[in-house]
Amino acid sequence: MPSKFIEQSSGAALPSLRRRIDNHFEQYPGGHLVRGRAATASDVRLSGNDYLALGSDPRIVRRQLDAFAEGNDDIFMSGVYVQYLDRQLRLENDYAAWLGAEATVLCQSGFAANEGLMQATTGPETPAYIDMFAHASVWQGAAVADAPAYAFRHNDADHLRRQIAQHGPGVVAVESIYSTIGDFCRLHDILAVCEETGAMLIVDESHAIGVIGLRGEGLVGHLGLAGRVPFRVFSLSKAMVGRGGVVAGPARFAEYFRYESTPAIFSSAVFPNEIARFEATLAVVRGEGQRRARVSGLSERLRTGLLQRGYDVSCSESQIIPLIAGPESETARLRDALEANGVIGAVFCAPATPRNRSMVRLCVHCGLVEADIDHILEVCSKIRDQVRPDRWPASRSGRARNAAASAVPNVELVSTAAGD
Ligand SMILES: Cc1ncc(COP(=O)(O)O)c(C=O)c1O
Repeated sequence: MPSKFIEQSSGAALPSLRRRIDNHFEQYPGGHLVRGRAATASDVRLSGNDYLALGSDPRIVRRQLDAFAEGNDDIFMSGVYVQYLDRQLRLENDYAAWLGAEATVLCQSGFAANEGLMQATTGPETPAYIDMFAHASVWQGAAVADAPAYAFRHNDADHLRRQIAQHGPGVVAVESIYSTIGDFCRLHDILAVCEETGAMLIVDESHAIGVIGLRGEGLVGHLGLAGRVPFRVFSLSKAMVGRGGVVAGPARFAEYFRYESTPAIFSSAVFPNEIARFEATLAVVRGEGQRRARVSGLSERLRTGLLQRGYDVSCSESQIIPLIAGPESETARLRDALEANGVIGAVFCAPATPRNRSMVRLCVHCGLVEADIDHILEVCSKIRDQVRPDRWPASRSGRARNAAASAVPNVELVSTAAGD
């Protein structure tokens, strides 16, 4: 829209819009905080979610190109109209077998999957209980459903129990690995509260799928809880390197969901070439446990090294390692110092984090080599006096984690064994 339309309307019809846009530019006069410098080939990149480094894998790319060449991409319509596609149904069955779920439904994105699932399960009579660090799409779904939505303190099963006692049973939403701070859900404790109170649990596995489990099946499956957790959901745009999402749950619910979730009704379906890509990705992800082991080993090394150098990353238990500088000015300083030394992370700030808890998030992936970890650690030593991690607010989740350190079951979360 040409700027003149906003300018002209400033005094009359849309003054509040004008104010909002002005506020944005006043807050970020030099460009938005998340926008750092573009990465080059010589940088160490930790900004994406391609944890298994499969985005350009020739086995996956080739399959998608072949599907393009077949010329079957004529599905330009909403998801509700294309449920008869054999190829999609086969993929959904394969996902279900992999996860140990009764059924799955392919969605256009993780956002659409979460929004649709919350919209289809909550409502004015069914409250939503959402971990305060859960993804925005979950809140969006509850809002669309007009459901009362209550945040409970991060990973705090007792707080959840008190909330449910006050407002009645409903739907509880958590993530198996939290996307900003990288800790695990205290799944046994949260599930116990759900079972005790009659609440229904949804676990977002977006950052665990592909990364956790002997065949990358995620935390729920790996802990043997597939029969007790009613719903799982995940984005296919992390370790699964495509654009899409998946909802897993009971077969009868899946059929209802296909026709009742608003993104399925009002947004176009996934294309056949994308489904071909997902098929190829699933085979690779299931089979290559050595990639999971590598991510796990490199992540452990980076977390330990950062802690030794005075960076409090104690909240992280996974490949997601946040440097929580706090105020945005401090995060900008950190981002610039890292980028000046060839380390590219992803900046997170409000509304993706609480205000004044902004961060640079480092995501470890198996495309890194040991020398990259050395480099990151050297850079973090070098810039320490400039960015002063000793002054950063201690991570709240870090403290919670220390208090509940025994809550994560002591199981081997990945395996070097090749899958099937
Ligand atoms: C935990 C979580 N759930 C859902 C989503 C949304 O996924 P998508 O990017 O596929 O829409 C994301 C991505 O940011 C995420 O981190």
